[in-house]
Amino acid sequence: MPKKMCDEVVSILENRKVNGKYYKLTFQSTLLSQKVQPGQFLQIRINQGNDPFLRRPFSYYRVIGKRVELLYEILGRGTDVLSKKKKNDELQIMGPLGKGFCKTIGKKKRLLVAGGVGVPPLVFLAERYSTDYLLIGTKSKLEVLPKHELKKVKAEILYATEDGSYGSKGMVTALLEKIIMHEDPRGFFIQTCGPKRMMEAVMALAGKYGIEGESSWDETMACGVGACLGCMVQTKEGLQRACVDGPVFKFKDLV
Ligand SMILES: Cc1cc2nc3c(=O)[nH]c(=O)nc-3n(C[C@H](O)[C@H](O)[C@H](O)COP(=O)(O)OP(=O)(O)OC[C@H]3O[C@@H](n4cnc5c(N)ncnc54)[C@H](O)[C@@H]3O)c2cc1C
Ligand code: FES
Repeated sequence: MPKKMCDEVVSILENRKVNGKYYKLTFQSTLLSQKVQPGQFLQIRINQGNDPFLRRPFSYYRVIGKRVELLYEILGRGTDVLSKKKKNDELQIMGPLGKGFCKTIGKKKRLLVAGGVGVPPLVFLAERYSTDYLLIGTKSKLEVLPKHELKKVKAEILYATEDGSYGSKGMVTALLEKIIMHEDPRGFFIQTCGPKRMMEAVMALAGKYGIEGESSWDETMACGVGACLGCMVQTKEGLQRACVDGPVFKFKDLV
């Protein structure tokens, strides 16, 4: 196991629904809360038995002292089981894992583009490091985070909903293009996490306007520690493991 990583059994402090999409899970741990960078993740063994068999990866959403918060949506069996856990139930968790987003971007404006399971790490990044814009794409108003969940974010927060029920109507990438066209695009540094199609569209725009940035490739992961080679990402240097070489990669390094 790499240095500074731990595998610990923790007790759940809170696990509750925050809106029509996300649940928030909170626990306390000295080791799992140490030296965490936004973009890093944890591997959770959801049950002690074999159902589900593999651990599931989740990004850090917030770390306050020893308190760790995760924000997750139900996508399948593992997250459904997780959503039914109660206060004081135990979970075995390994972390912090992977390489997070870069914090220093010189004089550029930090512009974050998030969607789906990519929202938690980018809210964490916006809370930790000076950010100009946080753009969030969702299907509808039901998925918009309650205001108190974003109260520590100093950036301008803009939503794009596909049905137009909140913020701009349409895709978050249309909103992104509107913003970058307003000033010198190369003055921005984009960091993105979310559905692959969204990130590909963000990277295409970044390429068109000559903007540097990073994206977090949340590939399906089995081991989370570089052993199974199940999370490979095609980079200019060849295939790399998202769990240890990423999940955050620079746009210019990706194929
Ligand atoms: C580095 C990393 C960080 C993540 N952070 C978060 C987070 O903060 N919050 C959160 O809700 N989820 C996050 N995810 C996704 C989360 O791991 C999956 O939602 C979870 O593993 C699904 O498990 P399941 O058993 O419920 O569903 P499964 O039965 O395993 O899958 C159900 C459905 O979800 C899809 N799915 C599985 N994994 C992913 C994935 N990585 N991305 C998108 N779709 C997926 C499958 O294709 C399938 O359609 C992260 C994933 C990675 C790799
Ligand atoms: S998940 Fe096993 S190598 Fe990345």
